[in-house]
Amino acid sequence: MPKKNNLNPKSVKNKTANQRKEPKIKAVPEPKKEKKSNESAKFKYALLRGMHDVLPREQKYWQPMLAQAQRLAEDFQFKKIDTPIMEEVSLFIRSIGKGTDIIDKEMYIFEDKEKYSSKICLRPEMTASVVRAYIQHGLWNQPQPVKLWYSGPMFRHDRPQAGRFRQFNQIGFETLGDGDPATDAELILIAYNFFHELGLPVEIHINSIGNLEEREKYIVALVEYYRAKRSYLCDDCRKRINKNPLRLLDCKQSQCRPIKEESPQIIDWLSTESRSHFMKVLEYLDELEIPYTLRHSLVRGLDYYSRTVFEIYPTADLGDQAPDSGVQLSKQDALGGGGRYDLLAEQMGGRPTMAGGFSLGLERAAFYYKACCEKEITKLPKREIHAFLAQLGDQAKRRSLKIINQLRASGLVIDFNLTKNSLKGQLDIANSLHVPYALILGQKEVQDSTIIIRDMESGVQEIVDQKKLSTVMLKKVQINVDQTKKK
Ligand code: HAM
Repeated sequence: MPKKNNLNPKSVKNKTANQRKEPKIKAVPEPKKEKKSNESAKFKYALLRGMHDVLPREQKYWQPMLAQAQRLAEDFQFKKIDTPIMEEVSLFIRSIGKGTDIIDKEMYIFEDKEKYSSKICLRPEMTASVVRAYIQHGLWNQPQPVKLWYSGPMFRHDRPQAGRFRQFNQIGFETLGDGDPATDAELILIAYNFFHELGLPVEIHINSIGNLEEREKYIVALVEYYRAKRSYLCDDCRKRINKNPLRLLDCKQSQCRPIKEESPQIIDWLSTESRSHFMKVLEYLDELEIPYTLRHSLVRGLDYYSRTVFEIYPTADLGDQAPDSGVQLSKQDALGGGGRYDLLAEQMGGRPTMAGGFSLGLERAAFYYKACCEKEITKLPKREIHAFLAQLGDQAKRRSLKIINQLRASGLVIDFNLTKNSLKGQLDIANSLHVPYALILGQKEVQDSTIIIRDMESGVQEIVDQKKLSTVMLKKVQINVDQTKKK
C-alpha cells in the first residue's frame, strides 16, 4: 500500500527549522516495512506533503468550474494568459512584499543549474507574473483596459491543513489600465457569478484600504492604539506591531478579538476621493443585488493592494462536511480574493497603470461544490446523452466507431461500449443511462448501409439510411428538446 501522507500539523512542529525553510522536491522516504508477498507492497512513493491528486471521480466538480470560468471570460471579454510556473524570486518580493507570510515563510526557492544571478522560485500567485508580462510585452500599448484571465497551479510552502495546500490551483481575472469604480464592480460581479451561476451561495466581504499615503497615516494610529494594549495581545500580535501592523487585523485569537473590534477603522482615514471611489463601488453592488458585508478588518495578505479589497466566502450551512473529500472548508476560509493594485506596475518599473483583479482557489471551490451537491443545495450540470450505439458482430463493431465519429462531429453526444458483444448487455446499459434512443447496427444493417433507431420509451423502431442518420437524429433530438420545454 502507498504510504499515507501525514497531514497532522503537529508533525510539522517536530521538524527542525531548517527542514521547514528549505523545501526540496523529493519523493517521501521509503516505508520502513515492505511486504514481499504482493505487487502493491513494492510501491514506495506517495504524495508530497501538502500536495494532492484530483482523481477522475473528483473531476466532475472541476470541469464545470473550468467551463464556467471560460464562459465568464468570453462574456466579459477577458483574454487568456499563461505565464511560467517559475519566475525570479525578486518579482514576488517586490510585489507581495517582505513581512508577508507568503514571502517570509512560504516561497519555494531554489538555485537554477545555470547559476542565474538571482534565485528562482515556484510562483505563489499570478498577479505579479501578469503585471510582469503586461510590462515586458508592451501590452500597455494596446487599447486599455487590457483584460486577462488565467488558470493554473500556485505553490506556497504553507503548513498543510484544512483547505490549505502547498500546490493549489487558481483561476484569476485581471483588468489593467483602468481606475474606474465600474471595473472593481465588474470584477466582483464575475467572482460572484462564478459561484452564483453554479448554484453555490456566497457573500462578498469588502473594504477600502485607501492609497499609500492614507494607509501610512492609518498605520500610525493603529500602532499607537495597539501599543497601549500590548500586554493583552497574543505573541504573534506583539511581533506584528513592529513587523507588519496591518496583519494585526487578521488575528483570530480570542484574546485579541475584542481589541481588534475596538481598533481604529481605516475608512476614517480615507480621503474624499478614495471614499467616493469606494461608495461608487458599493452603489454598483447594490444595483447588481450582490450580497456583501463591509469588513473594516479586511486588509488582505499581500502588499500590493490599494483602495478596494474583497474576498468571497461560502454561506451555505454544510453541517457535517463530507469525510471522504480530502479537503475541508470552514466558513473562515475564503474561496477567493482580490482588489485594486494601482501602484504595482509602476513599482515594478512600468508606467503608472491603474489595475485590479481577483483569484479563486479551485480546491476550496471544488470542495464547496461537492458539499453543496451532497446537501442538494445545487446540482451538477448534466451532459445529455442523445443516443447509445449498440453493435452486433465484427463488421458492425468496425463500422460503429466511424458512425459514432460522424454523429459526434454533427454535435450529437453518443455513448457506446465496444467491449460488450451481446445486444442485451448493450441495451441494458442504454436503459440505465436513460438515453432516449438506441442505434442498433448488426451484420444486415452494415451490408444495407442502414441502421435501426429504437425509441427507448415506446420501443418503436425505424430503419434509416446511414447517410441520413445525423440529419434524422438531429431532428429527433430537437423535437425532444422542444417537448421538454413545453412541459
Ligand atoms: P490570495 O488571497 O492569496 O490572493 O489567494 C486567492 C485564493 O486562493 C484564496 O482565497 C484561496 O481560495 C486560494 N488559496 C490561497 N492559498 C491557498 C492554499 N495554500 N491552499 C489552497 N487554496 C489557497 C491571490 O493569490 C491574489 N493573486 C489575488 C488577486 C488577483 N488579487 C488581485 N488579482
